[in-house]
Amino acid sequence: MSINKYNPLLLENKVCVITGAASPRSIGYATAELFAAHGAKIVVLDLIVNEGIANLIAAQIGFNPEVISIKCDIRNAADCDIAIEKAVANFGTIDCLVHCAGVVKSGGILSINEGEYADIMDVNLKGSFNICKSVLKVFTEKQAGVIVNLASLAAQRGGGLVGGTHYAASKGGVISLTKSIAREFAPQGIRANVICPAMIETAMLDGINEEELKSVIAAIPLKRVGKAIELAGTCLFLASELSGFITGATIDVNGGIHIH
Ligand SMILES: NC(=O)c1ccc[n+]([C@@H]2O[C@H](COP(=O)([O-])OP(=O)(O)OC[C@H]3O[C@@H](n4cnc5c(N)ncnc54)[C@H](O)[C@@H]3O)[C@@H](O)[C@H]2O)c1
Repeated sequence: MSINKYNPLLLENKVCVITGAASPRSIGYATAELFAAHGAKIVVLDLIVNEGIANLIAAQIGFNPEVISIKCDIRNAADCDIAIEKAVANFGTIDCLVHCAGVVKSGGILSINEGEYADIMDVNLKGSFNICKSVLKVFTEKQAGVIVNLASLAAQRGGGLVGGTHYAASKGGVISLTKSIAREFAPQGIRANVICPAMIETAMLDGINEEELKSVIAAIPLKRVGKAIELAGTCLFLASELSGFITGATIDVNGGIHIH
């Protein structure tokens, strides 16, 4: 694969599926906007269909991007297959998956019941397995493709700043899943990497009270929470050919709160 290092559009004409992008405050949305600005064609997969997302992105980037929204519950494997088939029917192929859809809940192990554990695992781990598998069917046919999964700092440090034991365990699974995909599919020209964010300003931080937030920020070496665009920038690098020799990597985007 040759890199056109002088093309400012890092994803020109690349078809990128982005899960969990329906909310304008989400990491997924920020990624969709940045990818569109870099020439990508965007497929938004989410539980919610945001009909206005193409206009919203257009208003930000100054031109009309190619964006479609497909309703998909990643907990359901058939739903994922159908959504990916629709994406391929619309754009002809898929070049990249950025998988941001996820849910967070707090709680220590003794306070979490079986149903709550299953709910988190179903979305975060089984959902990641389902959507990666659906996309890999397309990628193996074309012998190319890039996956960027979103895990969490919670998986690395034994529990999150927000997420509970079940959340941390589910995100640990996402790291292992991504590494396994990277190893299995590298010989077919397919890359997979995982990002571990912490304290990014999205709806996920809404549950934290001000005092708690202050003390967490005090512990972050960069002394602030992260911005969704800073996650989107990392996704852009990992999705583009600039990172063509990186696979199986776990990338920290955490303001330095976990340096290891
Ligand atoms: N915000 C943070 O501080 C932070 C920290 C660590 C990890 N993360 C991870 O980053 C990712 C994105 O986080 P965010 O803050 O943008 O979250 P968000 O809550 O803003 O957005 C998550 C999106 O996922 C969608 N979703 C939930 N369940 C789904 C399902 N079953 N099928 C399809 N879509 C579903 C929601 O509709 C929503 O649009 C998540 O995986 C999260 O765990 C976020």
